[in-house]
Amino acid sequence: MQQADVAGDLEKVLVTEEQIAGRLAELAEQIAADYEGRDLLLVGVLKGAVMVMADLSRALRIHVDMDWMAVSSYGSGTKSSGVVRILKDLDRDISGRHVLVVEDIIDSGLTLSWLLANLRSRQPASLEVAALLRKPEAAKVDVDVRYVGFDIPEEFVVGYGLDYAEKYRNLPFVGTLAPHVYR
Ligand code: XMP
Ligand code: MG
Repeated sequence: MQQADVAGDLEKVLVTEEQIAGRLAELAEQIAADYEGRDLLLVGVLKGAVMVMADLSRALRIHVDMDWMAVSSYGSGTKSSGVVRILKDLDRDISGRHVLVVEDIIDSGLTLSWLLANLRSRQPASLEVAALLRKPEAAKVDVDVRYVGFDIPEEFVVGYGLDYAEKYRNLPFVGTLAPHVYR
């Protein structure tokens, strides 16, 4: 499928490739300063966070370790319920580590809230979150997110790791889908 065909499925671009790169560079600078002199472990949440992890980690000017988790949250349709199952756990123990969870998007916050409680029980030295996107109007639980890329409206978005039925993850930008795609 050509890029032009994919772009035809989109209604509008919400965050451009340039905006993402610029914002990640800013966040990376902040993170590098905050974690100076400490060993940082980035924990990416599969699959959506793959792009953010790749670009954010390369923008960082400090050594980091990386690990990955995959979780599935059950709910009706596209809404998450906060009932989470671990599909792939971390490879290593995180006790005593400085952990930064890297997320693509925070919607209701239910998945992240569960994930943070789970990780906290493993006694990391510190636990923070970096998310590229956040939908403030969709929040059902209050989650403390230290690093946020962009606050966006309560719309379903795809691209830059985010999918609709596993498609559109490879778009270099974030956008909304055209209504005809849902039909
Ligand atoms: P909650 O509601 O628990 O959901 O914060 C977080 C997870 O739901 C997915 N999600 C989305 N995926 N476009 C997507 O492609 C969206 O607009 C969207 N909103 C939520 C995503 O997996 C996220 O980690
Ligand atoms: Mg996700």
